Amino acid sequence: MNVLVIGANGQIGQLLVRKLQESSKHHPIAMVRKEEQKEKLEKQGVKAVIGNLEGTIADIATLAKEAHAIVFTAGSGGHTGADKTMSVDLDGAIKSMKAAEQANIKRFVMVSGMGVNRLHDTVYLKGMGTSPSYYSIAKYYADAWLERSDLDYTIIRPAQLTNETETGKIIVGEELEHKPTSRENVAATITASLEDDQTIGKAFDMTDGETPIEDALRTL
Ligand SMILES: NC(=O)c1ccc[n+]([C@@H]2O[C@H](COP(=O)([O-])OP(=O)(O)OC[C@H]3O[C@@H](n4cnc5c(N)ncnc54)[C@H](OP(=O)(O)O)[C@@H]3O)[C@@H](O)[C@H]2O)c1
Repeated sequence: MNVLVIGANGQIGQLLVRKLQESSKHHPIAMVRKEEQKEKLEKQGVKAVIGNLEGTIADIATLAKEAHAIVFTAGSGGHTGADKTMSVDLDGAIKSMKAAEQANIKRFVMVSGMGVNRLHDTVYLKGMGTSPSYYSIAKYYADAWLERSDLDYTIIRPAQLTNETETGKIIVGEELEHKPTSRENVAATITASLEDDQTIGKAFDMTDGETPIEDALRTL
């Protein structure tokens, strides 16, 4: 499967691109923002394209034309303001979904965040001690758009990300306790989801855990 990775220069994105490249089943197409990032990937034998989520839907659709699936693992990051949260995490995500539709790509995997689906759950919000952040609002509505689309989606909601080594073991489910999740386990869960059609139409929390990833996904 040719997989367009949006956010391929990010921390999860880089791990995912490597994993897809090592797999005999997939070919990553890394979407990055800068020429030097593209050149570095090409030196590693990875197909790379330059694109920006603040560009047009048509531009993203053109970059996706050889893909069979799209993974969205981009994010504006904590160092930017609400404007970028809206234009990247919300609008950029929805433009990617519309681009998938324009390019006739059905499969779409979204890296979301734990808790964002509980935006309107007053008990949950009280427990968090804060009102929802712009980031959570953006992720909530991007996920909601995806769930209402005709795309074959999987929404993965990891908890706080770490750079621990992959254990290959996770917990998946609804309303899981907030526990750290390694980016390597997230990348492995994305890859396993692409290979398991039972994850289509599913949205789930994930953290590091004790169940092998493929077995955990089968419980969904
Ligand atoms: N941090 C957490 O604890 C946490 C928890 C749950 C879920 N998540 C989600 O996990 C995902 C990835 O996390 P990560 O740690 O890998 O993030 P990251 O390292 O910050 O990577 C984000 C990537 O998005 C790219 N990006 C930003 N703006 C863009 C734009 N306008 N067009 C195209 N690409 C753009 C960045 O490009 P450049 O490299 O060019 O800057 C970067 O490569 C995000 O969706 C995030 O919301 C994070």
